[in-house]
Amino acid sequence: MYSQGLDKSKVKLNSLVLGIESSCDETGVALYHTIHGLLGHRLFSQVEMHAEYGGVVPELASRDHVEKLLPLIRELLSATNVRLADLDAVAYTAGPGLIGALLVGACTGAALAFALGKPALPVHHLEGHLLSPMLSDPELQPPFLTLLVSGGHTMLIDVQDFERFEILGETLDDAAGEAFDKTAKILGLGYPGGARLAELAALGREGAYIFPRPMVDRPGLDFSFSGLKTFALNTFNASDRTDAARADIALAFEIAVVETLRIKIERAAQQTRHRTLIVAGGVGANRRLRLRLQALAAQKNLRVLFPPLEFCTDNGAMIALAGAMRLNRGAVDSAEFGINVQPRWPLASLYPTLCPS
Ligand code: KG4
Ligand code: ZN
Repeated sequence: MYSQGLDKSKVKLNSLVLGIESSCDETGVALYHTIHGLLGHRLFSQVEMHAEYGGVVPELASRDHVEKLLPLIRELLSATNVRLADLDAVAYTAGPGLIGALLVGACTGAALAFALGKPALPVHHLEGHLLSPMLSDPELQPPFLTLLVSGGHTMLIDVQDFERFEILGETLDDAAGEAFDKTAKILGLGYPGGARLAELAALGREGAYIFPRPMVDRPGLDFSFSGLKTFALNTFNASDRTDAARADIALAFEIAVVETLRIKIERAAQQTRHRTLIVAGGVGANRRLRLRLQALAAQKNLRVLFPPLEFCTDNGAMIALAGAMRLNRGAVDSAEFGINVQPRWPLASLYPTLCPS
């Protein structure tokens, strides 16, 4: 799906890319210019719609992308004073994600590109996340270690270069954010309840309950969070279910997640010897996690960066940026007019010769 390598004859430094993200429950669009950077972006989150059902309903997600995508693109073009004819390429998230949701962005992106006679660029969603710190810090240079920690992902990634990523570890079951949301539901906090659980935890008494730190006594950098949610359920059922008990359980759960992440990050930093850690994804908003990682950084002489949440949760800007960087490298096959979506798409398959894992 990707053309590899740098073809200098194709490198174009002055290009404008429209990016489209629709892999899950956020419709994102953005315009990224290879010299002027991000011209603007728009985002519509479906979270309120799915809250009623306690999680993302794929069919509703697709339908909502259909309704929101073109109006968002029109609004963005008008706000930035850009005409469709000014675009040099259209980048869209091709996977991984929900197939119906992906198809909305892919069909729209490919059709627009076809109509304009410009390349359509299928982008891997995680490649977008890994590049996104550059949206707020264009000087940022690899190598660095990225912790991607959201409702859908929990991964430690070695970003050796902008074309060379290696997943060092990932969750074997629930993502950390998903475990926050499920535990929040057990405690009666609604969906998505991660932030509310963190607020409740602030009222808890440390040490009232001790939760396990899953998989820390095994070698390697993978995670497993689904057992913690079960532990929370059993603890809650055995408690007196008062507000105080709920706060104590919330705190014990939060500490267990944060400590588990901290232990694996420390291990990954030792293994890679990278000095910079980037924390992306919605769980990166967690105050305890931030403080703990800042303390770790001070102790181990590391640099820890938390890019602004608007760029580390799902957004169109990271997809436009990934597309623009590909244009910059000259790694674009202008004949890519097909509609490509891959609901399951291992990151490692992007650069098979570079990224063996
Ligand atoms: O990156 P994100 O916005 O999107 C997706 O995963 O789609 O992450 C959302 C996740 C949710 O699971 C939410 O509960 C969690 O991030 N989250 C938090 C906090 N704020 C958001 N988890 C723990 N503490 C928080 N303060
Ligand atoms: Zn994402």
